[in-house]
Amino acid sequence: MQTVVTLENIHKGFKDGEAFHQVLNDVNLQLHQGQTVALTGPSGSGKSTLLNIIAGFEIPDSGKLQLVNSRADLTDTQQWQDKQWSVFRRRALGVVFQQFNLLTPLNVKDNIAFSLSLDNHKWSSWCDELCQQLGLTALLNRHVESLSGGQQQRVAIARALAHKPALLLADEPTGNLDEQAGMQVMSLLTRLAKQSNTCILMVTHSEQCAEFMQTRWHLQQGQIVETHSTAKHQ
Ligand SMILES: Nc1ncnc2c1ncn2[C@@H]1O[C@H](COP(=O)(O)OP(=O)(O)OP(=O)(O)O)[C@@H](O)[C@H]1O
Ligand SMILES: [Mg+2]
Repeated sequence: MQTVVTLENIHKGFKDGEAFHQVLNDVNLQLHQGQTVALTGPSGSGKSTLLNIIAGFEIPDSGKLQLVNSRADLTDTQQWQDKQWSVFRRRALGVVFQQFNLLTPLNVKDNIAFSLSLDNHKWSSWCDELCQQLGLTALLNRHVESLSGGQQQRVAIARALAHKPALLLADEPTGNLDEQAGMQVMSLLTRLAKQSNTCILMVTHSEQCAEFMQTRWHLQQGQIVETHSTAKHQ
């Protein structure tokens, strides 16, 4: 199975006044194509920091981060400049956050098409399929700010998966949704990611959401512990 991410001996801390707060303390992990992982842990344990490091928004203090490149090889990111990071994000990465982060002046279709256009992709039959499965077909011309939270998060998912990324990073994707909308979003997210063989690393505080993922990792005192593997929903 193709490996899409490896972290070896990753350390990351932040200065807190005079003190130094070690957030990630020797994190080692691998993610493979199609694998789905729920990342849990107390507030402040470093879950978002870990996702930010994998997305290149934060640089680790030490350790080795390797990511899949456009030729599907693993590449050491240490020498990457802004250009390589942006190529990786456009081609291989999708992100979904708690706040939907849509482009509010645009309608649904343009939100998805804009993200595709960054890597010179055109609207494809996969985009039609995504919109159909996410219940967005009738909403394509609507401005995103006129949509409900659940609808906006479904647009964010369509945008994140439109280019069939190797890796999807999701940070509490159902955090702003009620339970019913949250479960619906989780079910769609996992089904569509499976169709595109996308690996998911998802931060969640919700036990019910975590149950959609195959593997469970818990971040505690700077380190990851695998708690169990088996998804309740497949
Ligand atoms: N850019 C930054 N500068 C300084 N401190 C930071 C920065 N980013 C994160 N931290 C600190 O690192 C620690 C981990 O933060 P992080 O946001 O990764 O936690 P989290 O596990 O995602 O928490 P939550 O569940 O509340 O979202 C916190 O103590 C936070 O204050
Ligand atoms: Mg967080």
